[in-house]
Amino acid sequence: MISFEGQKSKDLIQKIQIHESEPVALKGIFSTSDIEWLKKIKDETFTLKNQTSEKLINRERKPLGRMAHPQGQAAKDIEDLVRYKIKDCTAGNFTMSFTFHENFFPYGIHTDAAYDSREYLYKQGVIPLEIHPLDAKVYTVIFHQKAYHPISYPSDIETIQTLKPKELAAIQNLDSEIKIGDKELSDYWQGTNDKERFRGFEIALPFCWVLGDMALWDRAHLHCSSDFKNHGIEGKVGLMWVSRKIAE
Ligand SMILES: [Fe+2]
Repeated sequence: MISFEGQKSKDLIQKIQIHESEPVALKGIFSTSDIEWLKKIKDETFTLKNQTSEKLINRERKPLGRMAHPQGQAAKDIEDLVRYKIKDCTAGNFTMSFTFHENFFPYGIHTDAAYDSREYLYKQGVIPLEIHPLDAKVYTVIFHQKAYHPISYPSDIETIQTLKPKELAAIQNLDSEIKIGDKELSDYWQGTNDKERFRGFEIALPFCWVLGDMALWDRAHLHCSSDFKNHGIEGKVGLMWVSRKIAE
């Protein structure tokens, strides 16, 4: 089932679209010492119980990961660094928030839009900090398809087949004629049902997790992680940020 909670007015969506741009991978923008410094803040934040939360346990009773939300001076210092690095890709007034994500399982297709129907979505990004094992290739795959409210698209074919036209219409440009190519499917997912699972979606940016790089995209873009199991990924840790425009 696809939720309709947090849907925005046509007027607000038009305003959000004024600031939209293509997803980009900014290569080599963080030095080794930047990454080490971010990892140090990450480790410190994870020790603070009031700033961390466990992710859900999955069907096999394994933890999916953890999140930590830096606050105060740590958040301010991170923001100063990231704002400087994205200054050529952003404009005007916006606020930012940061979360460290430690993941042992890949995220399915979703948006990180907002439940607040008045929120003026802007950009979001991911800064890779750790990949386990280090030489493995893991991706955040950003699609052309968009939605301006929080969406979690099912990963199992049976549920996808039960989606109603109204639910599918909540995703812009979803087109059942679009099929992701075999090479991309095997590079990023390799599951047996993936051709059908990703039917309708077109890849805008496959962002390979490389230390020092950052991907940046509009918050309306649906995105997901590449597969872990078929590609020998044990886990990854990244710093995610989301931004919102200040309403004029
Ligand atoms: Fe996300």
